[in-house]
Amino acid sequence: MAESLLLSPTATKAERYQELIPQIKALIEDEQDLVANMANISAVLKMAFDFFWVGFYIQKDGELVLGPFQGPLACTRIAFDRGVCGAAAKTQQSILVPDVEKFPGHIACSSASRSEVVIPLVTDGTTRFVLDVDSDRFNDFDQDDVKGLEAIVDLLRFHFA
Ligand code: SME
Repeated sequence: MAESLLLSPTATKAERYQELIPQIKALIEDEQDLVANMANISAVLKMAFDFFWVGFYIQKDGELVLGPFQGPLACTRIAFDRGVCGAAAKTQQSILVPDVEKFPGHIACSSASRSEVVIPLVTDGTTRFVLDVDSDRFNDFDQDDVKGLEAIVDLLRFHFA
C-alpha cells in the first residue's frame, strides 16, 4: 500500500478531489472493516485539505455515534433531531452550512467551528453514517466540496451491500 498521496501542487480543489478518489478507492477496496476504512479516509482528507475537523458519525440504534476522525475532540452522540449532522441523517441530504451560527440547533463541539458540510450515506432507505467536515473559517465550503465528498462517501457503499 502506498504510504503517501500523489497530489499535484497546482490542482484546483475540484481537481484535487478527482485525484484523491482513485487513490482512496485503492486504499479501501481490499479491506472489509468499515471503521478501518473510515479511519484512513479521515487521514487522507486531513492530509489533502488540512481540514479543521473531519470524521464520521455512524448510525447505531437511530442515533449518531462518533467514529474515526481527525481534529479536536468531539461530541460522542448526536440525535437525529439535533445539529447539522442530525439534520443530514434525518433528511438524507447533504447539507452545506456557510455560517454555523445561523443554523438552528447547530452543535458547537468546538467553539472555533464557523462553517460545515455534512454528507450522509443512505442505503435501502436507511442512513448508515454521515461524514462531517468543519472549518474554523466562515463560508469555507462550496459545491465542489459537496460533490467531491459525496463521491468519497459513496466509495464506502460496498460495506452495506
Ligand atoms: N457541529 C456538528 C456536530 C459535530 S462536530 O462539529 C464534530 C453538528 O451540528 O451536527
